[in-house]
Amino acid sequence: MAIVSTSSLRPLHQSSSFPKCPNFSHYSRFRPRLHFSSLRLSSSAIRATAAVAVEPDLGTLQNQKLEVDLFACPVCYEPLIRKGPPGFNLPAIYRSGFKCKRCNKSYSSKDIYLDLTITAGLREYSEVKPTGTELFRSPLVSFLYERGWRQNFNQSGFPGPDEEFNMAQDYFKSAEGGLLVDVSCGSGLFSRKFAKSGTYSRVIALDFSENMLRQCYDFIKSDDTLLTTNLALVRADVSRLPFSSGSVDAVHAGAALHCWPSPSNAIAEITRILRSGGVFVGTTFLRYNSSTPWIIRTLRESSRQNYIYLTEEEIKDVCTSCGLTNYSSKVQQYFIMFSAQKP
Ligand SMILES: C[S@@+](CC[C@H](N)C(=O)[O-])C[C@H]1O[C@@H](n2cnc3c(N)ncnc32)[C@H](O)[C@@H]1O
Repeated sequence: MAIVSTSSLRPLHQSSSFPKCPNFSHYSRFRPRLHFSSLRLSSSAIRATAAVAVEPDLGTLQNQKLEVDLFACPVCYEPLIRKGPPGFNLPAIYRSGFKCKRCNKSYSSKDIYLDLTITAGLREYSEVKPTGTELFRSPLVSFLYERGWRQNFNQSGFPGPDEEFNMAQDYFKSAEGGLLVDVSCGSGLFSRKFAKSGTYSRVIALDFSENMLRQCYDFIKSDDTLLTTNLALVRADVSRLPFSSGSVDAVHAGAALHCWPSPSNAIAEITRILRSGGVFVGTTFLRYNSSTPWIIRTLRESSRQNYIYLTEEEIKDVCTSCGLTNYSSKVQQYFIMFSAQKP
């Protein structure tokens, strides 16, 4: 039998500029082989079969079924079938395989996050997104993000992570105990706070940037309680969220709307995944506010930007045109926190 050294199985990022992740390197050795092709049953039977095969404890079957239903295929939105160890935490998800039985497409964890982008697994085709997305895929920007970059936002009126977190928690009161998705989580500044708060049954830290997610993992692994908490790391595009319609209780998107390729597509997607009564809370930089001198306004209107800065009115307009209600907002200089609800 061939003996394989652990180091040869380490994900690439561990041997480069990123700190090692010893907790997961051994999982890759024992990662289960997944034979989805042998499962030719109805959707619900497959869910139950896969769950029972992995963990024959019938007492937890209901929970396992929910886990299977949680993620959906980004191509067709069919709930994915999960095979692997039960549990909604990083190690369990890392060791699981996911498959869409409609598209026959498989999804798995790459390094330390579950890749649920449409381009996951493609070999020939790659895509370059607009600057607001591509910039944050850089390892350097991802590394610097919580090491000075984010702190700079305070100069534009951002109150700072602790205060922003408290403000968001106030808006999320009706979503307590539910599933929260931190869309465009970056290095997980708020995902970690949401997970640690114990307010939600599950927290999903979701971003398009592979390197932001790696940074997020680095911060998580330095905190033992977070590794085993109900927290998942998912790579996805905000314009194609991998969840079934009406399946999410709360969506948070901190300092993100201005980075998205299409804020209207993103908010339409967020609206789609929210359940009735579900809450969306976002923050962003405004293009200008009511006290901005007209000369600055004119300059900002005419200058070409890498980001899409909206006005208060535009943000409200997009949210309401997507069908969200109970819109409210708080503004401080160029900072806005807004909230809206799915009727
Ligand atoms: C300024 S950071 C915000 C990070 C964090 N939420 C915060 O409050 O500090 C913006 C994030 O949006 C993400 N992003 C940009 N385009 C995206 C897209 N198409 N889908 C998902 N996330 C995207 C970037 O990768 C980046 O992590």
